[in-house]
Amino acid sequence: MNRFIPPKRTIMTPGPVEADPRVLQALSNPIIGQFDPVFTDLMNQTMEAVRRLFLTDNQWAFPIDGTSRSGMEAVMCSLIEPGDKVLVPIFGRFGYLLTEIAERCGASVHVIEKPWGEVFDPQEVTDEIKRLNPKITAIVHGETSTGCLQPLKDIGRFCRSTDRLFIVDAVATVGGVELRMDDWYIDAIAGGTQKCISGPSGSSPISYNSRAEKVMQERKQVEKGIRSEKEDAADHSRRIQSNYLDLTQLQDYWSPRRLNHHTEATSMLYALYESLRVIEEEGLEARISRHLSHEKAIAAGIKAMGLTIYNDHSWKLPVVTCVTVPDHVDEAGVRRMMLEEFGVEIASSFGPLQGKIWRIGAMGYSARKENVYHVLFALEAALLAHGFEANRGEAVQTALKMYTGVTASA
Ligand SMILES: Cc1ncc(COP(=O)(O)O)c(C=O)c1O
Repeated sequence: MNRFIPPKRTIMTPGPVEADPRVLQALSNPIIGQFDPVFTDLMNQTMEAVRRLFLTDNQWAFPIDGTSRSGMEAVMCSLIEPGDKVLVPIFGRFGYLLTEIAERCGASVHVIEKPWGEVFDPQEVTDEIKRLNPKITAIVHGETSTGCLQPLKDIGRFCRSTDRLFIVDAVATVGGVELRMDDWYIDAIAGGTQKCISGPSGSSPISYNSRAEKVMQERKQVEKGIRSEKEDAADHSRRIQSNYLDLTQLQDYWSPRRLNHHTEATSMLYALYESLRVIEEEGLEARISRHLSHEKAIAAGIKAMGLTIYNDHSWKLPVVTCVTVPDHVDEAGVRRMMLEEFGVEIASSFGPLQGKIWRIGAMGYSARKENVYHVLFALEAALLAHGFEANRGEAVQTALKMYTGVTASA
């Protein structure tokens, strides 16, 4: 076998994005045992940092070992029992993912849908909740497939005031876009590490409050071989369907009990801890502002090039800029040339938007000035090579002016 050496890339997709070099370094630390007090101390410190990340006072805040959907799946399969009514308001691909997970949990799933590119007026969702009376409403915060950001607070407030559960996929937004778990009345949430947190994919920080915990605990069953005699007598008929994603067992592992559930992904925890340290050093608010300033430079550059932004609305997701592919331009060919000739990666989209838009992410460590210049320059060059008469030089000059205040002389 040949040694594998990945090429150098500028990654401007909605994830995975470039991992912070400090995180890559943390990944190479030696393995220590999962019950080593040094490691369990790291677990405790990571829990505290995850609480600060989600702006929550919840006791339970820890990562699931798996990609981002494992966090959502853990939350959903621990909360949903067969026959439970679940409402999923859908405005893009990842709403369908929530539906899919809820269905596999045996829920009676009801959906309301928006055309891709739009979001819900919170009143539309709360009206549907009143009509349907679901146990749970599950929604995506930042929909990466369409570059849209769903306002959450009013939906959360309504769910709380009527004693229903509200759960959120914050995979694309956590660590890069304003997100306030407690202030927005979110009962359970999952994030992803490969986007604004700027680590590798494979870990999903989650949190849930005591309202959610109460629902899960009614179904708790600890696996045979590690359970206590007292737990032997528990009623198992309603047990949580998944062993791996059973939050009642996982929280026992993340508590002083240190229940020996799975073998913790040691290196991924090193990575997450370092990512969170980087975030705290920058400061959440400063980090959100940084993402906004790069978004502005990208959007201005795209327009200056003569292109149209697909999601140019007040509900645009700041960390993803979607660009309408001009007529008669080979969408995939442009991306391929950007990657092969310039080492710059952007993304296409899915479903009805496949081939129609490009998605440019500016997330975490990838949200840097030099990356913004690279993506604008490479896109312009590839477009010119594909027969689209982009305004030559305008995109980079516009971004340069935004960053430095310097205007090119005629
Ligand atoms: C909004 C959103 N939710 C969920 C996911 C699923 O994440 P993963 O592929 O890490 O399981 C993604 C991935 O791109 C996403 O953008």
